[in-house]
Amino acid sequence: MKGIILAGGMGTRLWPVTLGVSKQLLPVYNKPMVYYPLSVLMLAGIRDILVITRPEDQASFRNLLGDGARLGLSISYTIQPKPEGLPQAFVLAKDFIGDDRCALVLGDNIFFGHGLPELLREAGRQTVGASIFTYVTRTPEAYGVLVRDEARRPMEVVEKPRTLVSNEAITGLYFFGPEVVEMASSLKPSVRGETEITDLIRTYVANGTLAVQEMGRGYAWFDSGTHESLLQASIFVQAIEERQGLAVACLEEIALRMGFIGLDELHAIAASISASSYGAYVHQLSQSLKGKVQGAPSVSGS
Ligand code: G1P
Repeated sequence: MKGIILAGGMGTRLWPVTLGVSKQLLPVYNKPMVYYPLSVLMLAGIRDILVITRPEDQASFRNLLGDGARLGLSISYTIQPKPEGLPQAFVLAKDFIGDDRCALVLGDNIFFGHGLPELLREAGRQTVGASIFTYVTRTPEAYGVLVRDEARRPMEVVEKPRTLVSNEAITGLYFFGPEVVEMASSLKPSVRGETEITDLIRTYVANGTLAVQEMGRGYAWFDSGTHESLLQASIFVQAIEERQGLAVACLEEIALRMGFIGLDELHAIAASISASSYGAYVHQLSQSLKGKVQGAPSVSGS
């Protein structure tokens, strides 16, 4: 299974903040936004990851994430010359995907909730078709939505519906088979001038191979692409971390928990990490596990 993080786009809804820096590198409370979608791929057990960025941002992402080896990952990079829609990610990732299944996560999507790792694992077990993750929203007009029939079977998907057809938003996390590359290559742009991920999903609805994972009311989902949602996501993460003393999307902790790195690697990272609160958390985690083989705090969210 391959993982793709789409971290391109102009970030126009966040101007002027994004005029000088990629949206997905902005902080969500105490860590860069891209840590959150990366943590989701890691929780899905995915270690081979492609990060797609604007040409001018690739060096910054490389500085941040490197080749992923310190987290037990393999991270590679490619550029999106100009944004032409989410399905473009699959075209750009053609060679990377090869004959494997892949998960695409949007670089500004943040997921949190008890049971998330299980939900991800279930999607990862699928061998045919696609999986989407849905979440009830008060503003369906801002998203792609799923329409169901009376038996609650997927019936249709609509991008940015003008009238209320469903309040079940399709979040920015998708699992597809390798056939998605061909399908994405032959899509035509929509009226907004871009190809649409919902046009891909519709094919799977039609042939009955779309699996839907519902993120119920116990989940939090943010697409942190506006000033308001960016602030809300930061406040949410700060509240959870302060109340629990457990970090959301601490990549080192997840890498350890998933068995991508061992305790020795964690100790080495902790010894080298700076004096931020994030660094202090990794250091404390490392100290608490000194001499132990198991016993890391459980990872209940992303
Ligand atoms: C995109 C997708 C939409 C999805 C959303 C999730 O919207 O087109 O179907 O619901 O991401 O964040 P966009 O960010 O392009 O408005």
